[in-house]
Amino acid sequence: MTGFPTRRMRRLRRTAGLRRLVAEARLVRSQLIWPLFFKPEGSPTPVSAMPGVMQHPVKDAGAIARRATDLGLGGVLLFGLPAAKDEKGSGAYHEQGVIQETVRALKRAAQDLVVITDVCLCEYTSHGHCGIVRDGAVDNDATLELLARTAVSHAAAGADVVAPSDMMDGRVGAIRRALDQKGFADTVILSYAAKYASAFYGPFRVAAESAPQFGDRRGYQMDPANGDEAMKEIALDLDEGADLVMVKPALPCLDIIRRAKERFGGPIAAYQVSGEYTMIKLAAQAGALDGDLAMREALLAIRRAGADIIMTYAAPDVRLDG
Ligand code: PBG
Repeated sequence: MTGFPTRRMRRLRRTAGLRRLVAEARLVRSQLIWPLFFKPEGSPTPVSAMPGVMQHPVKDAGAIARRATDLGLGGVLLFGLPAAKDEKGSGAYHEQGVIQETVRALKRAAQDLVVITDVCLCEYTSHGHCGIVRDGAVDNDATLELLARTAVSHAAAGADVVAPSDMMDGRVGAIRRALDQKGFADTVILSYAAKYASAFYGPFRVAAESAPQFGDRRGYQMDPANGDEAMKEIALDLDEGADLVMVKPALPCLDIIRRAKERFGGPIAAYQVSGEYTMIKLAAQAGALDGDLAMREALLAIRRAGADIIMTYAAPDVRLDG
């Protein structure tokens, strides 16, 4: 490569038009997924821990579906706040559960909107863990059947994609078999394949009211110290029939996103989680940085690392151009 002064790297940075022309990574709304919290009734409630994020009543689902469609978003990802919780998380697989009702309402308003449901029990169990608890620990195999039931009930309500986020072993296979058996062979599985036990989920647990009542999730979610293990998790989920795989959180896992993309090819999804989003929002509120630019930069970094699809609470309003 010839050097200076023949080569001047700054030439292509001179104007916005030139910068746009040579941009390698791009943010497009059609590949951003908007995570949403739904509750059975009442009025929209702001989530104290997450600036700009609300718990929405099911009756607002139609308006939200139209907004997501008008914005050209890639889809919505749903989390539910059930009317009541119990040991077995039965609100997760109830036919008239909050998510099942929300899916039906979204689809009535916007048939073509891609509707993704988070499949997990932690928002629905009284103890806040992601499965059935026996002797103080989550029982993997006993949990599988309930996850499969939950996924089938979401598919029956009209979900296009089910997204297991529980990190039980074998859940993708169990869900695939159950879906196929019940006539939902076309329902897509997006697995939270490499999901770390992350402190960055803190604000989400306030929003979803899903903090574990004892202990933590380190017995089933991954240790942030590990990278090779993430490759095994992804390989296993693909083998079990996952159509799409996700890395979570995103910014602390750029290396994992890159490795996953190189090893398995796309599409790879990454979740900019509640803590990543909230850090930027609070820093902006404190006047420490430009929130719009920081959000865009973080999302571009996730794209550049290799993510094709990004889950982000900023999906409807992030500035796409610099
Ligand atoms: C449910 C689930 C969690 C998130 C997505 N699905 C919380 C957790 O595992 O504790 C976190 C999302 C976020 O922080 O934005 N298991």
